[in-house]
Amino acid sequence: LNLEDKMIRTELCEVEGIPLAEPICSIWNQVWNFKARPDDLLIATYAKAGTTWTQEIVDMIQQNGDIEKCKRASTYRRHPFLEWYMPGPSPNGYSGLELAEAMPSPRTMKTHLPVQMVPPSFWEQNCKIIYVARNAKDNLVSYYHFHRMNKALPDPGTMEEFMEKFMAGKVLWGSWYDHVKGWWKAKDKHRILYLFYEDMKENPKREIQKIMKFMGKDLEQEVLNKIIHNTSFEIMKENPMANYTKDFVGLMDHSVSPFMRKGVVGDWKNYFTVAQNKKFDEDYNKKMANTSLVFRAEL
Ligand code: A3P
Repeated sequence: LNLEDKMIRTELCEVEGIPLAEPICSIWNQVWNFKARPDDLLIATYAKAGTTWTQEIVDMIQQNGDIEKCKRASTYRRHPFLEWYMPGPSPNGYSGLELAEAMPSPRTMKTHLPVQMVPPSFWEQNCKIIYVARNAKDNLVSYYHFHRMNKALPDPGTMEEFMEKFMAGKVLWGSWYDHVKGWWKAKDKHRILYLFYEDMKENPKREIQKIMKFMGKDLEQEVLNKIIHNTSFEIMKENPMANYTKDFVGLMDHSVSPFMRKGVVGDWKNYFTVAQNKKFDEDYNKKMANTSLVFRAEL
């Protein structure tokens, strides 16, 4: 790690035991007091679970499949990232709260917050929420590479070291295990559509239809096919408004690892050793013993 990297990479802070990026803690009260509106749609995920993909699907549904309208701005600006805050000028400086407050309704926003940290107004206003979960191993591998390429995040260390931090929940936005379980529980009490990355890969048409239905949209077959095509990994990888090459210039280094990296299920097999896999599974089974939630780590 060179000196410049060390100076840029943010420190972690904690809110209610959840590690966040330093600047977010400094504005936490404002995040917590955010005023949701009844027609807000929130896309919630643990980081690297398929947020950007879901955002593109949702936007295409909202724009009735109009590709040009979906290219009006980058993902990051179309859908405010609620809690994300980096002081300074654009393109690296960012305030999700300011963007959201300035946005006319109906708004769609993104968050990585665990369910207990979602601003209470979202529950009070009975907002619709789409949650996407991805199996722990692929989520971990994707998160590791993202830390390598994104200097706004802490240095991940080696894969082995990152794995330990991930299992301990000592990573940004906290424990993956608590995140997916917490949201799973919440879906029984609130308007939450709980989706899986693996299901979306397996049958995008079926999952996009679920999202449409949840959003109260009914689009023609032709439009649906267009959405399936334009939200495929291959097309999104080449879309500058979705592949993050327009945001965080100077922080994200796509030559280290592109944001649109592989987009598959089961890539963890290329990274986990047999011993690591055994250790991970043992720990996983303990942490996930108290839930009915089941993931697929291969298709
Ligand atoms: P990989 O690193 O495994 O490739 P997020 O948007 O939550 O940060 O998630 C990023 C992950 O979703 C990356 O995973 C990225 O490649 C993948 N992804 C993005 N768009 C996708 C798409 N259209 N289809 C499948 N995977 C996609």
